[in-house]
Amino acid sequence: MTPSNLPVFQADLYRHRRGQLAARIREQSGSGIAILATAPEQLRNRDSEFPYRHDSDFFYLTGFDEPGATLVLQVDRNTVVAHLFCRPKDPEREIWDGLRLGPEAAPEYLGVDHAYPNTELDQALPKLLADQTALYIRLASSAETDRRIRHWIDRVRGQARAGVNAPSEFRDIEALVHEMRLFKDLSEVETMRRAAAISAEAHLRAMRTCRPGQREYQIEAELLHAFRHSGAQSVAYNSIVAAGANACILHYRASAAELQSGDLCLIDAGCELDGYASDITRTFPINGRFSAAQRALYDITLAAQEAAVDATKPGNTFMQPHDTAVRVLTQGMLDEKLLSLHQLGSVDNAIETGAYRRFYMHRTSHWLGMDVHDVGSYREAGASNATEKPWRILCENMMLTIEPGLYVRPADDVPEAFWNIGIRIEDDALVTQNGCDLISRGVPVKADEIEAVMRG
Ligand code: GLY
Ligand code: MN
Ligand code: MN
Repeated sequence: MTPSNLPVFQADLYRHRRGQLAARIREQSGSGIAILATAPEQLRNRDSEFPYRHDSDFFYLTGFDEPGATLVLQVDRNTVVAHLFCRPKDPEREIWDGLRLGPEAAPEYLGVDHAYPNTELDQALPKLLADQTALYIRLASSAETDRRIRHWIDRVRGQARAGVNAPSEFRDIEALVHEMRLFKDLSEVETMRRAAAISAEAHLRAMRTCRPGQREYQIEAELLHAFRHSGAQSVAYNSIVAAGANACILHYRASAAELQSGDLCLIDAGCELDGYASDITRTFPINGRFSAAQRALYDITLAAQEAAVDATKPGNTFMQPHDTAVRVLTQGMLDEKLLSLHQLGSVDNAIETGAYRRFYMHRTSHWLGMDVHDVGSYREAGASNATEKPWRILCENMMLTIEPGLYVRPADDVPEAFWNIGIRIEDDALVTQNGCDLISRGVPVKADEIEAVMRG
């Protein structure tokens, strides 16, 4: 039986990832046991649930997207044995909730070595933990996880006089899995390219259908239509559709404001496809033509993005694109008199004093992958003091966003023509051998090209 929500399955891919994780466990501990549960279902109201979303780490190692599952890896010097605990088949529940894979079909379909009903977890875990030294789990992640693990360990400790040893080395499984997830494999890159292409198409649709007098939620509806119509399962995060001054609120949602001619519309929206996020922002004039003031700030933001893109290459640090963008943006703020050169003296001083943060208050990049703000350390390992650890060196196959912006709130010392302009331009970059590849450029970014799209 093949569940309908897993159309194509590559058991070898997930087996390979489990093998890679096992190798890292061996490196640290020689052998050990790893336990990783997927995410619980969440109620939205009373007995009605949010659409289910699996845990990203669990999915990365199994490709299994049903709730109620736990993966246990038994790693010794030469082998790794994968045990999956999952929901048992239940014809009565399946009439209501849909088909379940079930433990009988799981080994063949998912490539795990053994599968059992999840009702056997409490019975099986103490046996699997017996005489293991190293236990890899999510440390201090939730009271419920801690409680269950303690229960299993207590059962093993209870056998001490029979000569059974309980694990004594507790290790963080996330550190290992997140480091793996930072480097995208071919299958991930291919999925992320498709996710970004769908999101770019959705932004195009929003630009093409945008008219003064519409409401923000109507533009959001166009985005959702495009995502679902192309097969994306979900948004990767709550869509932002921000008209006029709303664009200066960084975590604004699509609400009910009317789109006014003469204002800009900022859309930050991306779909999730087969477990992978995309994250795109475009800012465009609601009536199809940038005003001179809007265009001036738009072109500064785009120049900042271009400079950051040039700085996104192997060997540079994660912070270099940001520092580069900040310099271009700050010079633009001085040129357009958002900041006073007279008061600040130089672009260097405007950066050093943080004066630019009044109009650009967020970072330029974050990792992107299964989670929109994806996992992986932003610092190199090694130094003992976190503040001394160098920023992460960019390497081939990392994926990150590049998203500079300018946000101008009304103030007496700011030229009025710029009041309430909020602009962000965001693309998704795959670090390549010599630079980066922007996988989200299916939607144009140059002001002239955006105006051309809007003219239809
Ligand atoms: N859309 C979330 C972000 O840009 O970080
Ligand atoms: Mn982003
Ligand atoms: Mn975004």
